[in-house]
Amino acid sequence: MYQQPLPPEYAGMGDAEAASRIRAAKQALGSRVVVLGHHYQRDEIIEHADHRGDSYKLAKDAGSHPEAEFIVFCGVHFMAESADILTPDNQIVILPNLAAGCSMADMANFFQVKRCWKELGEVTDTDRIVPVTYINSAANLKAFVGERDGTVCTSTNAPTAVGWALENGDKVLFFPDQHLGRNTGVRLGFDPDHDMVVWDPFKPLGGNTPERIRDATFILWKGHCSVHKRFTVEQVQAARAKHPDVRVLVHPECELEVVRLADHNGSTEYILRTIEEAEPGTTWAIGTEINLVSRLAKEHPDKTIFCLDEQICPCSTMYRIHPSFLCWTLENLVAGRVVNQVKVPEAVAAPARKALAQMLRVGVSRD
Ligand code: 13P
Ligand code: SF4
Repeated sequence: MYQQPLPPEYAGMGDAEAASRIRAAKQALGSRVVVLGHHYQRDEIIEHADHRGDSYKLAKDAGSHPEAEFIVFCGVHFMAESADILTPDNQIVILPNLAAGCSMADMANFFQVKRCWKELGEVTDTDRIVPVTYINSAANLKAFVGERDGTVCTSTNAPTAVGWALENGDKVLFFPDQHLGRNTGVRLGFDPDHDMVVWDPFKPLGGNTPERIRDATFILWKGHCSVHKRFTVEQVQAARAKHPDVRVLVHPECELEVVRLADHNGSTEYILRTIEEAEPGTTWAIGTEINLVSRLAKEHPDKTIFCLDEQICPCSTMYRIHPSFLCWTLENLVAGRVVNQVKVPEAVAAPARKALAQMLRVGVSRD
């Protein structure tokens, strides 16, 4: 399904008009609708969110409103798909702009992963490989994982989920983010040079020899987030030179060298909590998407908070959820019309649900 152009009435709408119409539509719908907002959404969206959170928290929040007929997910496509999979059939999940995808999720597709699994089977025993997909992936990849007794993970519970996987097998195939996979493996005590190989989907055997595959514990898909790839060692060094007391706080989608130099790393919710709990007067350089960093700076004027990257780095796909799209979807619901429903067919949803349920079962407690 593709995003249709907005009707002209919405396309030219200013923020103030959108805000008052969104409020009115939400009031008219009452408990029939729940609006979820990922931390990377702009302030003009977050102000209407009933819950805000990271991918893990929002996946749980989506399932905690059985009274709501509609869940309007202000985030990206894979998040809305996960919410649909985790909620009963009578609840309708809506993504205000269907063009809000994730370029990292697009770096692994079903056919590539299926071919990878087949090639791995030619050099090693795939019964001993546990597939782990980052939640930033399409529903059919979550289904692929569920069918092979693997798990989904998020940046909140990656160490716990991968730890569980290694109790159930000898190797992990981790996709699509090589950086989260590598950072997680290092956190669990593995050597990134010896214990990990990168799987390039455009090369035979991912660009590896059979021996390297057999020796490795982690097979990391060659994917990355273009927002988090922008953070560099030089930026961390520059922040420390300019602010000797700075604490550096980054998302684990950043490269290993950056994560190693940082004082803390974790999901967007972890970043938010760390800042909330920080002492007044402290200074923070944050390596994640700019909407979250700017909001934290605004909400915590007693702390000095800035983005590690001086050139701002928004997630262009998250940014596609413009208030006019939210207004359009909500006003259609008031008028009795559902637009932009995200519906995963049950044949895919059932095995994907198994992998998501495994993620929720391992939780975050062993982290
Ligand atoms: P979080 O689960 O940490 O919110 O991450 C989602 C994401 O897409 C980060 O780029
Ligand atoms: Fe995807 Fe990166 Fe945007 Fe997160 S920040 S939604 S990983 S492109």
